[in-house]
Amino acid sequence: MNKPERDSKGFKIYVESMAKSSEDKAERILSLLRTALENNPGDILDLGAGGGELTRAFLLMAEEFNLKVFALDKDRRMIKILKEKFEGQSKIKIVKADVKNFKLGKKFSAVVCSSILHEIFSERKNVEDVKLILKNIYEHLLPKGVLIIRDGLKPAPTDDIVFLQPLKPELFGRFQKILNHTKTSWLKIYAYHNPKKTKLLMALSRENVYELIVKYQYLEINWPVEMKEKFGFWTKEEARVMLEEIGFNVIHLKSYLLPYFAKMFSCDFRLFEWQDGPACLAEATSGRRRPGAIEIPYPDTHLVIVAKRGL
Ligand SMILES: C[S@@+](CC[C@H](N)C(=O)[O-])C[C@H]1O[C@@H](n2cnc3c(N)ncnc32)[C@H](O)[C@@H]1O
Repeated sequence: MNKPERDSKGFKIYVESMAKSSEDKAERILSLLRTALENNPGDILDLGAGGGELTRAFLLMAEEFNLKVFALDKDRRMIKILKEKFEGQSKIKIVKADVKNFKLGKKFSAVVCSSILHEIFSERKNVEDVKLILKNIYEHLLPKGVLIIRDGLKPAPTDDIVFLQPLKPELFGRFQKILNHTKTSWLKIYAYHNPKKTKLLMALSRENVYELIVKYQYLEINWPVEMKEKFGFWTKEEARVMLEEIGFNVIHLKSYLLPYFAKMFSCDFRLFEWQDGPACLAEATSGRRRPGAIEIPYPDTHLVIVAKRGL
């Protein structure tokens, strides 16, 4: 299935949105990368380098350690940006290739996958595609080399029901519009309770709440691409199991709520769970009574993993 391509305006917005989170990405990844290079010096491979904001930070580290960064992306427009950004720099090699079948004929001390694996998963909604890439990455690592991943996180459990209460009237409309837009894919509205009351609550599976809240800020121009993607493609446990099956030793596995999301969420919505569990769903959907709801914290949105290859 071919992925729809962003037009030039949508592409510009996509690149800008990467830059928006690059500070957080750098903060989460750089210290892990530094430890990896100190223990086992060798070149760095940045898979799905995109607009190169994070690559720039890797390049500084490569210069410090006298190593090279290989920045790989399959998108010709990203490659153009990368070439312009890093023109004349000797410590970087830009590679146009598909992460699904790349073969670089050399091994790395560290491979970084920042916000790319969910895109791979989303193409066919098949976690085996992610596994194939991870296996190929394993083959590209030096003994004791590390894979560093920063990406989305599927909440667990995934299929129970959560209430979402928009705090601004226009957001209720926006959420509904997204739900309508995605009706054939991953989002489903089960019920919203009693529109005459000021508190409008939307009932959704926990997994769908997650997908909605990590995407509702996207501009509509990019909905045809972004809303088809599934950001939370694995739970913490699923990530660990898959990496260990391949032979990795998972040495770091931490989830967190992206700080700028936390700020935005607190202005925009609150989340609740049913006091007496999902058994209330039938009553809630029929609108007969307002179920007792307990406010719950916002979920973690991102996962950072360090997985080490053996000897
Ligand atoms: C969300 S961006 C992340 C960019 C950067 N790593 C960051 O974290 O800021 C995902 C990047 O992965 C690239 N990408 C997606 N699928 C790919 C594939 N199959 N092979 C190579 N690159 C791919 C996209 O072109 C895009 O530049």
